[in-house]
Amino acid sequence: MRVAIGSDHGGFNLKAEIICYLKERQIEYKDFGTYSLDSVDYPDFARAVAGAVVSGDYDRGILCCGTGIGVSIAANKVAGIRAALCHDTFSARMASEHNNANIITLGERVIGPGLAREIVGAWLDSEFAGGRHARRIEKIAEIERNNKQC
Ligand code: RB5
Repeated sequence: MRVAIGSDHGGFNLKAEIICYLKERQIEYKDFGTYSLDSVDYPDFARAVAGAVVSGDYDRGILCCGTGIGVSIAANKVAGIRAALCHDTFSARMASEHNNANIITLGERVIGPGLAREIVGAWLDSEFAGGRHARRIEKIAEIERNNKQC
């Protein structure tokens, strides 16, 4: 399991917490920034992590910003990305099992570090269930293909 992780300044401290968690679990990761609390633009980091995941270099991505919303919107513009904003463990598990979410996004200004760890764990430790859900994921990919033709 190789994880790409990134944030803007609003998610910087939560990213640091999640990196500690990944280290504790000995999960391989790369930090795509940002590397300080200086104000930056979240789409830059969402694009970097999303690109690392769709390239196949990384299996999953984690993105943090103040709310988790901005990085989610931006990452979902990259074809092949299914980024899920999750602030509870049930959604995180479902994001894997039903939506095959290859990126999870979290908001530092919304949840605390302990819950964030549990959410990331629930997502990493669950797998896509396939079956009827695979048909639905394929329909999402079809929407992407149709958009490219416009
Ligand atoms: C930055 O102030 C904040 O807007 C950003 O981190 C994020 O919450 C956007 O969705």
